[in-house]
Amino acid sequence: PVPAARAGDAPEPTVIAHRGASAYAPENTLAAIDKAAALGFTWVENDVQRTKDGRLVVIHDDSLRRTTDVARVFPGRAPWKVKDFTAAEIARLDAGSWFSRSYRGTRVPTLAQYMRRVEHNHEKLLLEIKNPELYPGIEQQILKLLGNEGWLDRGHLDRLVVQSFSADSLRTVHDLRPAVTTGYLGTPSVASLRRYAGFADLINPSVESISAGYVHTVHAVVGPHGRPLRVFTWTVNDAVTTWKAVGYGVDGLITNRPDVVRAALRAS
Ligand code: G3P
Ligand code: CA
Repeated sequence: PVPAARAGDAPEPTVIAHRGASAYAPENTLAAIDKAAALGFTWVENDVQRTKDGRLVVIHDDSLRRTTDVARVFPGRAPWKVKDFTAAEIARLDAGSWFSRSYRGTRVPTLAQYMRRVEHNHEKLLLEIKNPELYPGIEQQILKLLGNEGWLDRGHLDRLVVQSFSADSLRTVHDLRPAVTTGYLGTPSVASLRRYAGFADLINPSVESISAGYVHTVHAVVGPHGRPLRVFTWTVNDAVTTWKAVGYGVDGLITNRPDVVRAALRAS
């Protein structure tokens, strides 16, 4: 297939390693962001939830079942919801073996551990507040931790985007800390875009849900910081989809395979 041309002299889209470089290392672990850094990528994405005793942890599903050995360690506690386990219990779990034997012993990181590794790797973070309806007050808690870790300082704010599928959660983040860049996960109707632009700097839709016309329309709307809304789309894992998304004019590509996307961008 012939790569689609980029519109005008638009800059190359940002490549964001989804759950870290999750095609090559267990998702949402320190190993996955180390892998992204080793491949030469700066932006990583993660998912944040909360334990029974109120600690913030990085994991995608609301259950520990798929990405840890919880069913073996705690066989009587199905369906193994993150919110029903303490941080100490989760720290005992192996979050790597399900992916590959070579990652045995990899842990579910706390958000504090994760932020320190992002800092150490000089990475930038697209932080997703996952299932916020399960965790009342998680927005305040995340912002407090980010503040404590220095991520709300001037030098760090441009390395952070907070995103969610929940408009309520994102509005809360924007109201509490207007300086934080925010992204709404979804594909709002054109008629509703101005409303979302009250609290979201980015609109982050699935690549299957958009077109060049939609992206153009989003770009014409001004966000809460007086700049045009941007679009980071997901999940783009092959060359053809990369070229398609580039043709749509998106600003960012969220991918499990950042190296594949980078190669496709270089070929376009
Ligand atoms: O960053 C976009 C993407 O992460 C949203 O979907 O289910 O992978 O969190 P999901
Ligand atoms: Ca996510």
